[in-house]
Amino acid sequence: MASWQEKIAPGEEELFERLARTLVEGRTGEGRTLHRYAQVGLEGRFTVSASVPATHAQGLFAKPGTYECYVRFSSGAGRAQPDRVPDVRGIAVKVVGVAGDKVIAPLAAAQTQDFLAILTNTFAIPDAETFVGIVGAARKGPLSVLGYLIGRVGFFRALRLAGALGKAQDKGRVSLAERTFYVPLPIRWGDSAAKVRFRPAVVASTPATIPSGEHGLTEALRARVRSAPLTFVVEAQLFVDEVHTPIEDGSVEWLESVSPFVEVARIELPAQDTESARGKKLAETCEAMSFDPWHALVEHRPLGSIMRARNAAYRVSTTARNAMSELDVKPPSAIAV
Ligand code: HEM
Repeated sequence: MASWQEKIAPGEEELFERLARTLVEGRTGEGRTLHRYAQVGLEGRFTVSASVPATHAQGLFAKPGTYECYVRFSSGAGRAQPDRVPDVRGIAVKVVGVAGDKVIAPLAAAQTQDFLAILTNTFAIPDAETFVGIVGAARKGPLSVLGYLIGRVGFFRALRLAGALGKAQDKGRVSLAERTFYVPLPIRWGDSAAKVRFRPAVVASTPATIPSGEHGLTEALRARVRSAPLTFVVEAQLFVDEVHTPIEDGSVEWLESVSPFVEVARIELPAQDTESARGKKLAETCEAMSFDPWHALVEHRPLGSIMRARNAAYRVSTTARNAMSELDVKPPSAIAV
């Protein structure tokens, strides 16, 4: 029996549908509503460890195995902007060849499990309506965001929230190959729940230099994956109780002293040339595909109100941009150039 609990507000499904439409109708040009610009789209292997402890051996991680995967690094804005503009940075991972029932009923037969992560281990925005309001205001400029927040949550809370949002904006000075990415809201982990992170297995003692041009992060990441394989350790942190590891309040950090991160898998990105014909085809495929936290096994259903709001948002966005159906996704090895 699960010890965590979700609080589902009456009528929230209709609200989330409406918010999703508002979010997507406001997008500029073609492509993703958010995270429009990708630094790279890569292929790799996702290997579930042979020594996952019984407590963590759930869903995809129930038994050891190796899968193919796609990995897309991105900046959060809804328009393609240079890396030197501070922004949220994301990593989206699509594990392919995953059998088992999926949470979206029409995609029950899909063979994929996605994970979407950013650079912060918490998600400060209290609810989906505020998130959509912030995105709408940000389209008019940063000052509009503060004005919007003051109107929505009051002056002092707005300042705190603006501070947290500011901290989430990465300045682009450290290579994305050297950063830890977090799934900052919980997902089901069998009968328990967990937060997940992707930590670089090795970080060189001298950080990579970021070229000074418009797209320094992109250049650095492309050079990094061309020269050597890149490995991220996938780690999961289990739910303990509502006080220390709340399901609905993403602003609370799940402290490692309360629930340690445990290795459950590794993502290995072999050295690859993103400028080669194959590299370009992989990037194109990643652009056409849809990475969505709800592309998940029943055992890894996203949890909490913001996660449920995302269920509508990603579907409306991917429909608007005619993304590839999840049922048509092939493993990278099936991509012919
Ligand atoms: C835990 C918080 C969140 C994380 C970690 C996250 C992460 C991401 C990432 C990494 C992507 C890029 C996916 C790709 O590479 O294709 C993305 C796209 C997107 N996100 Fe989120 N996001 C979060 C919250 C939200 C919320 C609250 C909403 C709306 C209610 C939202 C709406 C979208 C949309 C519409 C896209 C574009 C989907 C597409 O067209 O493919 N996200 N997000």
